[in-house]
Amino acid sequence: MKTIVSPSLLAADFTNLQADIDMINRSEADWLHCDVMDGVFVPNISFGFPVLEAVKRICTKPLDVHFMIVKPERYITRTAKLGAMMMNVHYEACTHLNRTIHEIHEEGMKAGVTLNPSTPVCMLEDCIQDVDIVLLMSVNPGFGGQKFIENTYAKIGRLRKLIKDSGSQALIEVDGGVNAETAPKLKRAGVDVLVSGSYVFKAEEPEQVIKTLSSPLPP
Ligand code: DX5
Ligand code: ZN
Repeated sequence: MKTIVSPSLLAADFTNLQADIDMINRSEADWLHCDVMDGVFVPNISFGFPVLEAVKRICTKPLDVHFMIVKPERYITRTAKLGAMMMNVHYEACTHLNRTIHEIHEEGMKAGVTLNPSTPVCMLEDCIQDVDIVLLMSVNPGFGGQKFIENTYAKIGRLRKLIKDSGSQALIEVDGGVNAETAPKLKRAGVDVLVSGSYVFKAEEPEQVIKTLSSPLPP
């Protein structure tokens, strides 16, 4: 089975987003991952709605928006208006996660819940049935180009069990340090969606890299 690939815009060339989004449009990428950071939840600031709106105008792939901000529920309506396919919020940033998930659905988007590396998957026990996707951070959020945290492989196994036992349909997405070495291991561990920033955008042939990330492992 093919793996869903969501290249991360954070590693694109911000002086020429048009060229990088043209590449994404031509490629076999399934989604475009957009990292919104507020300098509070994470120690970095990336981009916000003016950039997302411009990207949406020229990108033909669905937008998978990853909010690394406090109180992301403040921006559910705005994210829906933008036309995002999915809104990913951090478990650690939402006091009333159940309400937030329902509000995202009411606005017509898929709801994703993201876990920091130190947050165990058991924290999702009481919401997993309502969630469309669980995004496991395999680096501490805030920056691209960091080293993959090895514990993620085992975490995928624990999350798969939780999904199966609860009868949930949630997909498993992994974000951070995804490259030629980690992607095959993540596929073997059972990942559904791979986010990849620097490995895709810094490559000589990014379209080929995206194709390889999406390809099934040889038997
Ligand atoms: C990190 C972001 C990631 C980042 C991944 O906080 O959520 O999406 O862009 O970058 P790489 O693939 O370079 O680790
Ligand atoms: Zn991300």
